[in-house]
Amino acid sequence: MGCEGYSAIARVYDRLGAEIDYEKWADFAEACFDRFLPKRPELVLDLACGTGRMTRALAARGYDMIGADGSAEMLAEACSRPHDGILYLMQDMRSFELYGTVGAVTCCLDSVNYLLTEADLDACFSLVHNYLDPNGLFFFDVNTPYKFQHIYGGNAYLLEEELRDSDGSFSVYCGWQNTFCPETGICDFDLSLFEELPNGDYRRSDEHQQERCYSLETLLAALKRAKLEPLGVYSDFRFSAPTDTDERWYFCARAIKD
Ligand SMILES: C[S@@+](CC[C@H](N)C(=O)[O-])C[C@H]1O[C@@H](n2cnc3c(N)ncnc32)[C@H](O)[C@@H]1O
Repeated sequence: MGCEGYSAIARVYDRLGAEIDYEKWADFAEACFDRFLPKRPELVLDLACGTGRMTRALAARGYDMIGADGSAEMLAEACSRPHDGILYLMQDMRSFELYGTVGAVTCCLDSVNYLLTEADLDACFSLVHNYLDPNGLFFFDVNTPYKFQHIYGGNAYLLEEELRDSDGSFSVYCGWQNTFCPETGICDFDLSLFEELPNGDYRRSDEHQQERCYSLETLLAALKRAKLEPLGVYSDFRFSAPTDTDERWYFCARAIKD
């Protein structure tokens, strides 16, 4: 099993997303733990952990962390960073297996949008419920319908980054074409990466990714089917109420077990 779509980009994922402040994400996840859990969770699963930036941010705050992702390349990047005490697993979020239950599950940076069908959503949410302690917390976010329709739409982007590593600085260009189909809710991302090599040549790699746009109602219904009680949906890290023009929604849900 492998997760296609993150093989080439894995090498530059962290550097292209360097502006994302994972400490703020971890602050907010902890604020949700404080708000909704009777006590601080000991063991946390970071689902679709990618290169492990959120996993490491939470590990540094003293949580025992499991990071699971379907991409061998993203996990290889995660394992190339200091990861003492973090257990990384190559697992598909629709069919993952753990050794036992955890106090909280995080799933960040629109990873839930990579679940392309409601059956996939159900499979993932049902496993999250299965592996959460009773009343354990599920914290995740999604890209909103507004973002798919008005920001991604059929737009193309060109990102140019001057990246610096131990070999010096080099350029990465990322051309990114989106195609959003309102009927299916699927957004296709066609990415081309041009990475400057030490000898000045450029290495090109192409990737195709897909995300699915979900309405608030669809996500809330899927949570309820999985016996995950929705506790709150927020538009920012200040617990603000969601609006129709948000680009991201953050969800908290609690595992109800009989
Ligand atoms: C946008 S990245 C987010 C990574 C990480 N959560 C972060 O905050 O940086 C989405 C991640 O979802 C993973 N992914 C996509 N589909 C998956 C699946 N079916 N099972 C497991 N991981 C998946 C990709 O490999 C990728 O690492």
